[in-house]
Amino acid sequence: MNEKGNFEPKIVGFLCNWCAYAGADLAGVSRIQYAPNIRIIRVMCSGRVDPVFILEAFKDGADAVLVAGCHLPSDCHYINGNYKAQARVALLKKVLENFGIEPERLRLEWVSASEGDKFANIMNDMVEQIKRLGPNPMKKDGGKIS
Ligand code: FES
Repeated sequence: MNEKGNFEPKIVGFLCNWCAYAGADLAGVSRIQYAPNIRIIRVMCSGRVDPVFILEAFKDGADAVLVAGCHLPSDCHYINGNYKAQARVALLKKVLENFGIEPERLRLEWVSASEGDKFANIMNDMVEQIKRLGPNPMKKDGGKIS
């Protein structure tokens, strides 16, 4: 089997505490099955995700990064953090493309605390998409992320 055939993507997920993390937690407690490829980092708000965190994740071998927060326009618990995340992710996609990393490897999603099924669907869809793309082209020696 070729490398893509055996490939299980490693996805780093920055999930806001109030919505997306609670949605992921709901998926877990509801026993909704989804691909186990994500390593979750809980942040207080999607607007707290510094672009450097995302670039570091790719440098350390993540095959994809998910940023997930509270729904636009007004669910963010810190007023406009989700708008900041939206602007940063749009900019970072262009930066990644310039480094030869497909922009599809960075994804932004809005997930509420009641959307465990949506979180599971995002994970399954993301894993399928990244499997088609193959490993992070920056990854050397498997990367640091296990
Ligand atoms: Fe969830 Fe700001 S608190 S995106």
